[in-house]
Amino acid sequence: MRNQTPVSATRYESNNIESHLIEKRVFNPPEAFSSKADIPSFEQYQKLYRKSIGNPEEFWGEQASELLVWHKKWKTVLDWKEPFARWFVGGTLNVSENCLDRHLSGSRRNQAALIWEGEPGDKRTLTYQQLHREVCKFANVLKRNQVKKGDRVIIYMPMCPEAAIAMLACARLGIIHSVVFGGFSAAAIKDRVLDSQAKMVITADGGYRRGAIVPLKRNVDEALKDDEHVKKVVVFRRVGNQVTIREGRDVWWHREMEYVDANCEPVPVDSEDPLYILYTSGSTGKPKGVLHTSAGYLLQAALTTKYVFDIKEGDIYWCTADVGWVTGHSYVVYGPLCIGATAFMYEGAPNWPEPDRFWKLIEEYGITIFYTAPTAIRAFVRWGDEHPQRHDLSSLRLLGTVGEPINPEAWMWYHKVIGGGRCPIVDTWWQTETGSIMITPLPGATPTKPGSATLPFFGIDAAVVDDQGKEVPPNVGGKLVIRKPWPSMLRTIWGDEKRYKKQYWSEFKGMYFTGDGARRDKDGYFWIVGRIDDVLNVAGHRLGTSEIESALVSHLDVAEAAVVGRPDEMKGQAVVAFVTLKQPKKPTPELRETLREHVAEVISAIAKPDDIRFTDALPKTRSGKIMRRLLKEVASSGQVTGDTTTLEDYSVLAKLSGDGKESAS
Ligand code: PRX
Repeated sequence: MRNQTPVSATRYESNNIESHLIEKRVFNPPEAFSSKADIPSFEQYQKLYRKSIGNPEEFWGEQASELLVWHKKWKTVLDWKEPFARWFVGGTLNVSENCLDRHLSGSRRNQAALIWEGEPGDKRTLTYQQLHREVCKFANVLKRNQVKKGDRVIIYMPMCPEAAIAMLACARLGIIHSVVFGGFSAAAIKDRVLDSQAKMVITADGGYRRGAIVPLKRNVDEALKDDEHVKKVVVFRRVGNQVTIREGRDVWWHREMEYVDANCEPVPVDSEDPLYILYTSGSTGKPKGVLHTSAGYLLQAALTTKYVFDIKEGDIYWCTADVGWVTGHSYVVYGPLCIGATAFMYEGAPNWPEPDRFWKLIEEYGITIFYTAPTAIRAFVRWGDEHPQRHDLSSLRLLGTVGEPINPEAWMWYHKVIGGGRCPIVDTWWQTETGSIMITPLPGATPTKPGSATLPFFGIDAAVVDDQGKEVPPNVGGKLVIRKPWPSMLRTIWGDEKRYKKQYWSEFKGMYFTGDGARRDKDGYFWIVGRIDDVLNVAGHRLGTSEIESALVSHLDVAEAAVVGRPDEMKGQAVVAFVTLKQPKKPTPELRETLREHVAEVISAIAKPDDIRFTDALPKTRSGKIMRRLLKEVASSGQVTGDTTTLEDYSVLAKLSGDGKESAS
């Protein structure tokens, strides 16, 4: 902790991407940490990085031999025909074998793989041997129920070990899983079942959240009302609530497990066989099914877990993400288990029954590495220092964040109050599409600056470019791109190759476009500004504005809707909806509440607009495009100062930004 100077606010602007903060504080990795770390110095990082970028195929090839267990070795590390990559061509392996079987021959067999606590306080530990046994048995349940390699299975579960068991059992047989976040509604499950043509849904009777029961099975029943694809629903009994069992389709997890034995050979799959589909929001239309394949994905997830979290024997590592998000896939399940770590899992809310639940868990379990989201950190700040201060957090040695830019002040709070000033913080930038961490400090090597994800991981060629694809000079804003393929990149969008090409590879030739704005400072550090497409980042979750608009318009009373984001201290961005009603419907506070609930029902409570403004008309260009830029200004500041020359009807704007208070009630 040397070389600290305070922040100074400077403003610069380029390509409509603005950043207002120049952060001058620098935190060097503590000596005590570096001396034991895998990458112990900045020089070593630079040396290895240069080597990895000089010859990425050699680098990834070496790592793949060292880190993964293969059935058949690959012939070619990378076959790249833009925008389609095939990694470790000709190789075969099994992902669940890499996460489980390989650890069974020595003492790791009896080490905890997963340590879990439910929201009500129930506890379970599964050693590698026990987890292996459960996965083998459940894979046999899948077989018994006629799902096979290449089939799709939806997993809609609470955060409990069975969610991971279901994922790994699918992987054992080459079945493609698609986890749907337990907070999503029936409509979201339905869409995903349809898009993936899933044959099976694995769910639970319910899950606990803030003391209440989330009726997971009921949501599945509603989603499958008119469905013809799903042949079987496996129900894990988590809470014991009443559920309807449909004869012939629904089976109980615990009953099925009684019929099977614990022997199940892993099925070798091709490096490029799909591992999972995970749906994420895009700027237009329905959610995109991001497809990840087997070897490359696992390799990068495992390698980043090893280097970024610097996991050692005896560590207890806790990533707070739900398995419904990509972070839960890569850093609760696949990465940690592949390298033989002990991962902690918690089912419920951070403030249940009290706002100190996380700190209590850290103290009780002696958590050493803690990885969470900036939105959670901001909530902790607001709840008050007394909650962490009531607990002994001295077991912690490393902290991490992911999901959105972290404000420097939240970073400082995390550093001081949670990390006791001694823990490095890894601010990791990546996306559902990238599969694993791409830009990040290495905790024993990289000096950190609060708010910056710092530098690219090995083998990752990240850059900030202008609209022509030319790299911009230091401290000039631009678009964040990746200039070389990487092993855990998405391979396509499920069933929509055209959208894959258009979304990621059409902006610039030869570069993957992330959709994020960023700048690099004079030290080459990346500062991510946020999304530049029509995607909001609400509490670390990506939401497509068009999805929320469609949800609003699906309500009988709504004629048209435009959704924009407004900066929000807690959630990063808040959802603001401008809604025009069908004649002769009149706006009322009740209708506003109904519409908010309607969005929660159609998508998820996360997508609920914070603010709904009724208006007679939306500002449009002459060609009929809604001018979101203006709405964004109205939503954030109540006024419009930007260019309005293309606006079709000026009176609309006047009404929205003040004069029209009565119509925009
Ligand atoms: O805008 C970036 C932001 O989250 C987006 C990816 O969201 P998602 O696919 O849901 O994955 C979240 C977990 C990996 C990115 O395009 N983002 C993620 N991490 C950071 C971030 N923004 C700034 N700093 C980060 N560390």
